[in-house]
Amino acid sequence: MTSPKHYLQFKDFSADEYAYLFERIAWIKARFKAYEPYHPMFDRTLVMIFEKASTRTRLSFEAGMAQLGGSAIYLNTRDSQLGRGEPVEDAAHVISRMCDLVMIRTFEQEIIERFAANSRVPVINGLTNEYHPCQILADIHTFIEHRGSIQGKTVAWIGDSNNMCNTWLQAAELLDFNVHVSTPPGYEVEPERAGLYGTSHFEQFADPLEACRGADLVTTDVWTSMGFEAENEARMKAFADWQVDAEMMAVAGGESLFMHCLPAHRGEEVSAEVIDGPHSVVWDEAENRLHAQKALMEYLLLGKVDA
Ligand code: CP
Ligand code: NVA
Repeated sequence: MTSPKHYLQFKDFSADEYAYLFERIAWIKARFKAYEPYHPMFDRTLVMIFEKASTRTRLSFEAGMAQLGGSAIYLNTRDSQLGRGEPVEDAAHVISRMCDLVMIRTFEQEIIERFAANSRVPVINGLTNEYHPCQILADIHTFIEHRGSIQGKTVAWIGDSNNMCNTWLQAAELLDFNVHVSTPPGYEVEPERAGLYGTSHFEQFADPLEACRGADLVTTDVWTSMGFEAENEARMKAFADWQVDAEMMAVAGGESLFMHCLPAHRGEEVSAEVIDGPHSVVWDEAENRLHAQKALMEYLLLGKVDA
């Protein structure tokens, strides 16, 4: 069995592949907006495995697959054998014999890697504790739509050095932009866990305001990610000064964008004034999950397609 191409972390694709994908996302989006049917996935099936909650990821993969002419099946830990101890490897063998593509949202990255190693079909990371590559694909596409190429630009990451932060850092190395990271003490980036080759594309700032100064994009995420709920009380105290607010957006500058992968907690990691204000592109960002993942699924199943 030759190993299929998977998308388990952002660095699984090259800069050239991303250049192709960003063009393809725009093409698929424009066609969808013009109500022109496009069904390259006729008769293809996506299986979506969720071990954590989701609104956007489930909806965008399921709707996306339907819009491409295929179908999607939802499995979760509660009502499948996945929650009763069936080995990941066995599940991968069985599931991948019955479908064309698998998307998984789970806990440790190691779980998705073990699944992929035993899968006959491409596997997509729909979020793990370590990474969220589908979200960053959509986020960078959203940046490009508003501001053009991200190369050489500066992204300020404020808050937790979580799956989103790690994926931004991988993307910065691949696509040659800079990330200013500001986390509370004790929550700093762990370069090895982030899967970085080097540290030349990011800089850590003790003061979140300084991290935002001159940034083209300011972005943040929840203080307590799924799977870390037991730490919630300690995190609320530790992160209190890391709320993205109007002062941070002001030092970033008038042209700066604000993004959040959502769901958001107004009054915690971001003020209502910022997320609902003029810098914010969070609704475009959420919509682009749909278009980005359609292009991603098409690429994994059909390779490069001529428009
Ligand atoms: N941003 C994101 O992945 O949202 P969901 O958790 O709703 O899928
Ligand atoms: N960092 C968040 C992202 C949710 C989409 C989490 O993992 O819960």
